[in-house]
Amino acid sequence: MKIIGTGSALPSLAVTNEMLSVFLDTSDEWIHTRTGIFERRIISDENLKDLAVEAAQKALDEAGISGSELDYIICSNVVNYYVTPSLSCLIAGGIQAVCPCVDLNAACSGFLYGLDMAQAYIMTGKAKNILVICAEEPTRMCSWKDRNTCVLFGDGAAAAVVTQGEGFKASWITAAHRPEILYYQRPLEDCPFVKYQQRGVPMYMNGKEVFKVAVTASIQGIEHILNQTGLTADQVDYYILHQANMRIIDTVRNQLHLPAEKFPHNIERLGNTSSATIPILLDELNKSGKLKYGDTVVLSGFGAGFTAGTCLFTWTMNQ
Ligand code: ACO
Repeated sequence: MKIIGTGSALPSLAVTNEMLSVFLDTSDEWIHTRTGIFERRIISDENLKDLAVEAAQKALDEAGISGSELDYIICSNVVNYYVTPSLSCLIAGGIQAVCPCVDLNAACSGFLYGLDMAQAYIMTGKAKNILVICAEEPTRMCSWKDRNTCVLFGDGAAAAVVTQGEGFKASWITAAHRPEILYYQRPLEDCPFVKYQQRGVPMYMNGKEVFKVAVTASIQGIEHILNQTGLTADQVDYYILHQANMRIIDTVRNQLHLPAEKFPHNIERLGNTSSATIPILLDELNKSGKLKYGDTVVLSGFGAGFTAGTCLFTWTMNQ
């Protein structure tokens, strides 16, 4: 499998830390020193489906194919206005695709899970062209009175078109049962037979525990992938990690004894857009020409569950 097009779309509203400190007991100093975040984009007058369609169309344009040539759409999404139909079905309508569509929820690891699934379809010959798209609005799961969570997140969408070819070398996804450290419970309609009310709980996160589990999962994933491919850590040109916290990225980098240039980031501008962080950053590096043909790239992410995923590929665009 190889990537032949990427695209992303962001909400227009940039919300700075100062804007948050108007209604929250927080400060720019606290947020950027603990997380690396200075601002994030938040959906105000757009909707997630439209952003997703825009990201998908940009990826298709770069790939040089139309929506009707897709064999599958895999969309990573945790929450959006519709529970059903799936967001992938809504996206299909916007790009004139007629293929099967499925949403997956692996939280922030969704891009890695989506690529892994796409690779399985492509390797069996069941599909040729697949759109893997991540569209997320985690800002709709947070309580905007809870400074522990809402300052961390932003919204966005990004996609990659993958097809048959030589690029992907290894992929490893995992899941561990740790629901108590990070969760969101949606409100449900009352049912006359249910004995308790299900009003929903805004996102809860045990930040310190997530930090530890995230670092361990990222290191394990990267070491596993390097072992599988026989490469050393310094032979990788770029490590594109989930943009959850700059301190997590720095801790992983320090444990691998690697220079900062190998760890591009955009968390300072966009915050944590859940599974969209990795494909947004991938698209930025692609469009800016930073990724060169033949570069070795590792993607690694972690998310609620606790899920994690890492993959390694050779960049086959921009020849
Ligand atoms: N502004 C000001 N003070 C705050 C804020 C805020 N936004 N948030 C928390 N505080 C306070 C706390 O209330 C606490 O006050 P107290 O000492 O009076 O009780 C104090 O700051 C210290 O809180 P800690 O939780 O100890 O702060 P910590 O240094 O652990 O940083 C953070 C918190 C940034 C959440 C950190 O734990 C972290 O980054 N964890 C990883 C979480 C993560 O990356 N989540 C991403 C989402 S999950 C995902 O993508 C899979």
